[in-house]
Amino acid sequence: MIDLRDIYNVRLGTDDLDAAQHFGTEILGLQCVLRTDDHVYLRSDKRHHSVAFFKGEKKDSTIAFELMRWDGLDGALAELDAAGVACGRGSDEEAAVRFTHEFGWFIDPTGNRVELLARPFDANRPYHPNRPTGITGFGHVGLNTTDPKRDQAFWLTHFNARISDWIGPAPLMRVNARHHQIALFPTKGPGIQHINHQVDTIDDLLKAAYYLQEKQVRIVFGPGRHATSGGYFLYFEGHDGNTFEFSTSDRMIIEDEANYRPRQFALEDESFCLFGAKPDIAEFRK
Ligand SMILES: [Fe+2]
Repeated sequence: MIDLRDIYNVRLGTDDLDAAQHFGTEILGLQCVLRTDDHVYLRSDKRHHSVAFFKGEKKDSTIAFELMRWDGLDGALAELDAAGVACGRGSDEEAAVRFTHEFGWFIDPTGNRVELLARPFDANRPYHPNRPTGITGFGHVGLNTTDPKRDQAFWLTHFNARISDWIGPAPLMRVNARHHQIALFPTKGPGIQHINHQVDTIDDLLKAAYYLQEKQVRIVFGPGRHATSGGYFLYFEGHDGNTFEFSTSDRMIIEDEANYRPRQFALEDESFCLFGAKPDIAEFRK
């Protein structure tokens, strides 16, 4: 069993770093902490960065978790390798551009590449956005799955993941007390389905909705309220067609871990939004 502490960041491949930087700072509202020839690093909280765009292909995008144990990488890779999971250790050069002391990677059964960070860098200066966004930090990711039952078993077998809720076949899972850090949504192939940052209040969320409309950003779902986590949400189309979300959903803390009962919600619009907003997101429809 591999213990994960939290989702840590995402790396998104793009062929247009200038546009990625503009989106990340002006639209998403993150802070550009470093721009190099082949990377843009964007900060949202105490992490060095929560989003890094790199010069490359979108299909090579990855999500990364922090390992619970700072010395846990060898053990994690040995366990995955013994189970026949494709995995490996990253080089020092690869670790350097990820701002982590060391890392490994594995491929989940759908074909998503996931990275495991040991001693990822913390921000040495506080997050300081260009405009008041109310962003409090990186929240969670939605990941594509071609078989939710199989991939759910993969996460529950190899990691300290627990089910918080299901919407239809899609599990929302946690590795700590917050409601979810990863959710698996059925679709045709691998990929990052959405990337969530947390905002403080519903006012921040509604301000973002009007701001994004003014900037002619396509809002694909919301503003609304999730039936599962109780969080208010807003989904919008980001750079290169990546879907981003703002929400307050991480306010829900699972306090009584031993007695928490995962809930099963029907695969219906109302399970995604109890206000009645309709998702323009393929994976959220029947
Ligand atoms: Fe979400």
